[in-house]
Amino acid sequence: MHTPSRGAGEVARVHVLVVGSGGREYALGVALLRSPSVRRVSFTPGTDAMGVLGDVWRIPWTEPEEIAERVRAERVDLVVVGPEEPLAHGFADVLRTRGVPVVGPGREGARLEASKVFAKELMREAGISTAEFRVVEHISEAEDLLASGPYPLVIKADGLAQGKGVVVAGDEKEARATLGEMLEARRFGEAGSRVVVERFLEGVELTVHALVADNEAVLLPPARDYKRLGTGDVGPNTGGMGGFSPLPEYGPAAEARVRAEVLDPLLATLDRRGISYRGILYLGLMWTAEGPHVLEFNVRFGDPEAQILLSRVAGDLGAVLSKLAEGRLRPDALRFREERAVGVVVAAPGYPEAPVRGLPLPYPAEPTLPVARGETPLLRVYYANVRAAEGVDFTRTRRGVFRSHDARLVSHGGRLLTVVGLGEDFEEAHRRAYAWAAPFREAGFFLREDIADEEHLRRYAERFSGG
Ligand code: AMP
Ligand code: GLY
Repeated sequence: MHTPSRGAGEVARVHVLVVGSGGREYALGVALLRSPSVRRVSFTPGTDAMGVLGDVWRIPWTEPEEIAERVRAERVDLVVVGPEEPLAHGFADVLRTRGVPVVGPGREGARLEASKVFAKELMREAGISTAEFRVVEHISEAEDLLASGPYPLVIKADGLAQGKGVVVAGDEKEARATLGEMLEARRFGEAGSRVVVERFLEGVELTVHALVADNEAVLLPPARDYKRLGTGDVGPNTGGMGGFSPLPEYGPAAEARVRAEVLDPLLATLDRRGISYRGILYLGLMWTAEGPHVLEFNVRFGDPEAQILLSRVAGDLGAVLSKLAEGRLRPDALRFREERAVGVVVAAPGYPEAPVRGLPLPYPAEPTLPVARGETPLLRVYYANVRAAEGVDFTRTRRGVFRSHDARLVSHGGRLLTVVGLGEDFEEAHRRAYAWAAPFREAGFFLREDIADEEHLRRYAERFSGG
């Protein structure tokens, strides 16, 4: 592996490859470019919009050998994997075998997300609080639960289903239909050949990420994600429609509980099973009257939580991740700004069933690509499923701003971008994000209207007392 040259007292300037093509990876790219230790960021497969941040390789993760070859040729020092799918397929293992430092667990560790059954059994072994559950392969095995509930029952496809494999079934009819769709009609293919049926937990939901380097870990500030599609928390679960960070009610006492009751027992159990984990760990928690219960583990940053959280990062994320990939932690290098952050996802009309493609975004892509170091813009835009309009060339300037004022982006999938507003308080952050998003609403794009609004924050504070 190439070792960056290092003068006396100088930070090594590294070249980082980010794997993925969503808003989360865009945000990772921005945060890495702002890191003093990072010289350059490249992306694969990436998107047109990522061209303003660095080189876009276009090689899919399903070609790990080709990526490893290019990593060598371009002297990449660190690979950061954004999404779960490559991790679940052993992408990180392939690169590590070739001596490439990677942020992201190997296939074994990725089972924490790739199999809900694995995660539940591991939690049982570790003594981590989670909803009571049963693993079901045939509807007949759930007859007694279907008859008695208690409802709502939560039904989860075992495998990866892009955040859509969880149904909160309100009554027997819905539960039966859901089990039929998953187990018999195989709506999620093999991912739904087993399901977890679990008890509904009442409480306040929050996301806490940890940076994990084998036996050491550091918890990041908490965030709140809005998973339901519609304003007012209605409609199906999605990958996430927006969120905010931090949670004012979550202080050192709450963090100490998450560490003692969830993180430490989890790391001890991974260690006992001989599973090395170097990467980001996502704890999806329900804080009930008794305290934190785990709803799910993810083996990567949340999307849009990453966009929201990384907008608050100060310090050197690149340095922290470089060390993490070697199995060491340097938590002191990472700080979070005091500002509140509110993130709103803008989706294409027709999301999630049939998002319209090719629709021009009502903005030039140009105005807010905050890449230059030292800047602390209070508005950040992170692009996901967008493309350059036909005939538009994305030109990058030194400051990471589009040169062409004609540069137009068009929709190319469901979630198009996340806009994050920062502010002294949530009201200011909220106002900033929504002011930027307003022309999208007028042009018929889809967004939730209630992310971090006053009413919601008040209710949240009333119900949550993490300490
Ligand atoms: P998961 O992917 O397992 O986090 O589930 C997706 C969403 O479904 C969660 O973010 C919760 O909003 C909800 N959910 C999952 N499990 C439960 C549960 N046991 N009780 C209540 N809500 C749940
Ligand atoms: N926003 C939730 C997730 O990324 O899983």
